[in-house]
Amino acid sequence: MAYVVTDNCIKCKYMDCVEVCPVDCFYDGENMLVIHPDECIDCGVCVPECPAEAILPDTDLPATSAWLALNHQYASSWPNITRRKTPPADADAWNGVPGKFDAHFSSEPGDE
Ligand code: SF4
Ligand code: F3S
Repeated sequence: MAYVVTDNCIKCKYMDCVEVCPVDCFYDGENMLVIHPDECIDCGVCVPECPAEAILPDTDLPATSAWLALNHQYASSWPNITRRKTPPADADAWNGVPGKFDAHFSSEPGDE
């Protein structure tokens, strides 16, 4: 089991999560973060820190969900992030908007 970052992180990217992870397993994309599922130790401390409630245990995902694979894929190519940066100015406006992956996912790395 591991925790993974899901749709509502996109364009919110608050980054409170990275400050509490004891094993520094968050990776930085242009408009979201992912968790490396093989590095996550399942401690769960990042879950309540996320204002977007975007971090879920993979056991809570639908069987058809691609989020576990996506976290694994991009954790291997995006840079590690251990310090919170300034979130997007319009992060709160995007919190809860449905369907962000289809409309707004970016495979580009962040600038960490
Ligand atoms: Fe890091 Fe723990 Fe969150 Fe996994 S569950 S990403 S180890 S803070
Ligand atoms: Fe994303 Fe929540 Fe972290 S919005 S960057 S998973 S605090």
